[in-house]
Amino acid sequence: MAKLLHLQSKNLSLVFKIGRIPEIIHWGNKVATIDEDLFLATERPISQARLDVDVPLSVCPELGAGHFNSPGLEGHRQGADFAPVFQLESVIEGQGNVTFGLVDSVAGLQLDVNFILDFESDVLQQKLSIKNIGSQPYQLDKLTNTMPLPYHAKELMTFHGRWCQEFQTQRIGFEHGGFVQENRRGRTSHENFPGLFVGSQGFSEQSGQVWGFHLGWSGNHRLRADVRSDGRRFVQAGELLLSGEASLKPQDSYSSPTLYSTFSAEGLNGISARFHQFVREHIIRFPKLAQRPVHLNTWEGIYFDHNPDYIMQMATEAAKMGVERFIIDDGWFIGRDGERTALGDWYLDEKKYPNGLEPVIEHVNQQGMEFGLWVEPEMVSQESILYREHPEWVLGVNGYEQPSGRWQYVLDLQNPDCFAYLFNRLNDLLSQYKIGYLKWDMNRELVQPAHLDKAAVNGQTHALYCLLDALREQHPDVEIESCSSGGGRIDFEILKRTHRFWASDCNDALERQTIQRGMSYFFPPEVMGAHIGPAECHSTKRKHGINMRGVTALQGHMGVELDPVKESAEEKQAFAKYIELHKTHRDLIHSGRNFRLDAADERQFIYGVEDDQEMLVTICQLAMPSHALPAPLRISCVDPKASYSVRIVEMPNTSFQLMKHRPEWIGKTIRLSGDNLREIGLTLPILDPESALVLHITKNL
Ligand code: GLA
Repeated sequence: MAKLLHLQSKNLSLVFKIGRIPEIIHWGNKVATIDEDLFLATERPISQARLDVDVPLSVCPELGAGHFNSPGLEGHRQGADFAPVFQLESVIEGQGNVTFGLVDSVAGLQLDVNFILDFESDVLQQKLSIKNIGSQPYQLDKLTNTMPLPYHAKELMTFHGRWCQEFQTQRIGFEHGGFVQENRRGRTSHENFPGLFVGSQGFSEQSGQVWGFHLGWSGNHRLRADVRSDGRRFVQAGELLLSGEASLKPQDSYSSPTLYSTFSAEGLNGISARFHQFVREHIIRFPKLAQRPVHLNTWEGIYFDHNPDYIMQMATEAAKMGVERFIIDDGWFIGRDGERTALGDWYLDEKKYPNGLEPVIEHVNQQGMEFGLWVEPEMVSQESILYREHPEWVLGVNGYEQPSGRWQYVLDLQNPDCFAYLFNRLNDLLSQYKIGYLKWDMNRELVQPAHLDKAAVNGQTHALYCLLDALREQHPDVEIESCSSGGGRIDFEILKRTHRFWASDCNDALERQTIQRGMSYFFPPEVMGAHIGPAECHSTKRKHGINMRGVTALQGHMGVELDPVKESAEEKQAFAKYIELHKTHRDLIHSGRNFRLDAADERQFIYGVEDDQEMLVTICQLAMPSHALPAPLRISCVDPKASYSVRIVEMPNTSFQLMKHRPEWIGKTIRLSGDNLREIGLTLPILDPESALVLHITKNL
C-alpha cells in the first residue's frame, strides 16, 4: 500500500499519509510531485510527559487512539464500544477521488471515508459513512468530517445572523482553544449558516491564505474549529444528531452530509470564485437555459388581500416595467386571510378567486410573463381543515403541548399518508395550473421534532429532499425557490433541488448590502433573490432613494417586491430603468467571476463581476465616508497589458450633498490602461451615505 497518496486539481493538492489510519498532511496550493522522503520528513517528535506514541490527526480522530479533542465518531452499544480504533482495510483510488475503507472488528464498525476533488473548480467533497457490522444495535451519536489545517491558519471568519439579518460575519483569533457552532433549529437556519473560513493572519477579500468550508445540509449541524495544545488545528463539520436519532441495527448504515471545502492563496475572492464555479457546474440545474427572469412577488404589495382583478392590474403594470415572472405569494388558498390560518389546505380560495386562478394566469402569460405561486408544504395551521382531520400528522412528541411558531406546526413528512397528501396536493396544483415556479417557504423551527416519538430531524430533512425530488421528477420544468422566512434554508444540498434563494425578508437596501455580501462568499448571484422594495422598507421603516435600492438589487437574481399600481409614474420609470440595466448586464452578472475589493474606507463596499471582455463595479457608500476625500479605486483583476474604457452607468440622481464639484471625468468615457487602473487608480466622486455608483469597464480591442 502506497505510503503517501496525492490527489490533484487544477490548482490544489490534497496529500494523505497512510498508516494505520490515513491522515491529511497537506490541503492547499498544488505541489508538483511528492518526494519519497516526505514520509520521513513529516514524522513528528514525541513530547515528554505525554503518550509514548504519536497520535495522527486522522480523517476520523479517535478517542481510543489518544486524540483528546473532539473525536470524529462517537457512539456506543449500551455503553460498550464507545472508543473505536480502526484499521485501514482498503484504499480505492479513482481519478481525483479516493475512498478509505476502515474496520474496527472489536467494536463491530466499518467506516468509509470518501474524498472527491473536482479538478476544474478545486472544490473538495468529503463524506463519511458508518456501518454496524456487529450483532447488536449501535447507537451513533456523532460522525463528523475532519479537516486538519496548518499552523499558520490563525484567524477564523464565522457566520451568525437572525431573521432579516442573515449572513453576518465575525472574525476570531485562532491560536488556543476553539470555536463551536451548534444548530438545533431543524433547518439550515438564519442563525447558524453552516460555513466557516480559516486563514492566515489578517486574510482579506484580496489577500491571504484561506480555507473555506460549507456543510451541505438543511437540518441540524455542528461546526467546530479547534487548536490542540500541541498546536495542530482542525475543522470539523457534521450533522448534529439528537439523542437516539441514529440507532443502527446490525447491517444498518449512516452517511454524513457532504463537507465542501476549498483553499485559496488569494484571499476570500479566490474561495468564492471556486465555490461559485463548483455550484454552477455541479449543483444548480436550471430546467431551461433561458436567462434568469426578473420577478415581481406580490407579498409586500398586497399581503393577504387578494383580489384577482387588482392582481391582474398589478401584473399589467409589472410587465410594463420589464418584469418577466409574476409570483402570487401567500394568501391564495382556502381560508388564508391572515397568518394564523389555513396552512395545509392547498386548494384555491374560491371566495377570493370566484373565476378560478386560470384567468389570472392567462393574463400574466398574455403580458409575456411566467406565473409562479407560493406554498409552504411542510406546515399546518391549527385552524385548518387538515389539522382538524389529521392532528396526528404533526411532527411532535405525544403527550406534550408544543409551542407553535407563527401560529403553525410542522408536518411529519416521514408519515407516509402525510407525505402522499402533500405530494398529491402539489402535484395536482402543478398539473391543474400553468405554474412555472414555486416559491417554497418554511416559516418556523422544529421543536420536539419526533417521528413515532423518536428524534427525527435527520428523517424529516431526508423526507423533504424526497418530496422535492418526487415533484421535480413529475414536473421537471418547474423552478423552485427555497425560502424560509427569508434566508433560513440556504445550503448546497437544498440547492441541488431548487433554483433560487430568497436571501432575506429584509428588503432594506442597506441591510441587504451586508446580507448579500455574506451570501456571495458561497453562492453566485444568479441564485440570490434580490428585490427592489418600496421607498420605506417594511421590515425596518428605513427610507432609501431608488439609487440605493436599485443598485442593491442589480447584482443578484433581480426582482421587485411592492405594489406597482400604487407607485408613482416616476418610481415606476425608475424601476424600469434598473430592470433594463440589469437585463443589459444580466449575462455577465449571472455567469462572470465575482469579486469584492478591500476598500480603503471601511464604510464602503466595493464589489463587481468580470469576464475577459468587461466588468461591472459597484461602489456602495454604507455610512458617512471615513475621510473627506475618497481613496482612488484600484482594481486588481484587470489585465495590466490591456487598455480599458471606463464609464459610469449608474449614480445618484440628486443626492451629492458632500461634493461641491465633481471630478471632470464623470459623465465621460475615459480610457485607462490595466496597469494604471491597478496601480494608480481612478478618483471617485464623494458619495453620500447610503448611495451607490456603478461603473462599466470594457476592454478596448
Ligand atoms: C415568509 C417569506 C415571505 C413571504 C411570507 C408569506 O415570511 O419569507 O417572503 O412569502 O412568508 O407568508
